[in-house]
Amino acid sequence: MAEIIIVPYAAAAGSLVADAIVRLIERNREAVLGLATGSTPLPVYQALEPRLKGIDVSRVRGFALDEYVGLDPAHPESYRSVIQREVVEPLGLDPALIRVPDGSLDGIEHAGEEYEEAILAAGGVDLQLLGIGTDGHIGFNEPGSSFASLTRVKTLTEQTRDDNARFFDSVDDVPRHCITQGLGTILRARHLVLLAFGAGKAEAVAGAVEGPLTASLPGSAIQLHPRATVVVDEAAASRLRFADYYRYTYENKPAWQAI
Ligand code: PGA
Repeated sequence: MAEIIIVPYAAAAGSLVADAIVRLIERNREAVLGLATGSTPLPVYQALEPRLKGIDVSRVRGFALDEYVGLDPAHPESYRSVIQREVVEPLGLDPALIRVPDGSLDGIEHAGEEYEEAILAAGGVDLQLLGIGTDGHIGFNEPGSSFASLTRVKTLTEQTRDDNARFFDSVDDVPRHCITQGLGTILRARHLVLLAFGAGKAEAVAGAVEGPLTASLPGSAIQLHPRATVVVDEAAASRLRFADYYRYTYENKPAWQAI
């Protein structure tokens, strides 16, 4: 099962995960990071910024999970722009080594395959950051996504478009399609780190961690992964049946076992 860590607030999760990423980069200067967008990973990126000062990150590589289809890459809410603004610039990464799926309409039919090839050519993702949608999606793998799926175009649910409307002037401006790493792509990463904060995520987290394995709740795919870490605040943990056991396990974790 995944390791479940319940923290008092999001910044504590950010510190914990940032420490793991720093250790990874210190072990391997060419580490491949799986980058997530949305509000959830921001505490990780914020905690990483001071920690990476003085560490050579010039060869660190990165792959974003997803991108909107048909949105101008220069739009401030394209994930290319978001990754540049929230990750590449503050952390001092080399933009040439950070890839985002290509959501431009021209060539979209091959974009998924090309992205898969690029991930394979990089040797795969070492640590994949994940948020989870209120409908249980990871990446933009909406309910019904195959556990074997690879990077491809998906249609966003109305719920996801509503959830993401806060980033746009109106829900009508949220694109209807996206290109996302598949569940099969995500499961190939060597370490999955799923974060969730707030009561709005409690049901999705409980389903992903303790519910049945089902494509209807794509986050449940993490149960198939041999090394998954789930870091949640109390509110997001509030529907977990075995929360006391997870707390007990973490409190008694041997010092040599890092996340
Ligand atoms: P959020 O989105 O981090 O903005 O809540 C999570 C997701 O949709 O995966």
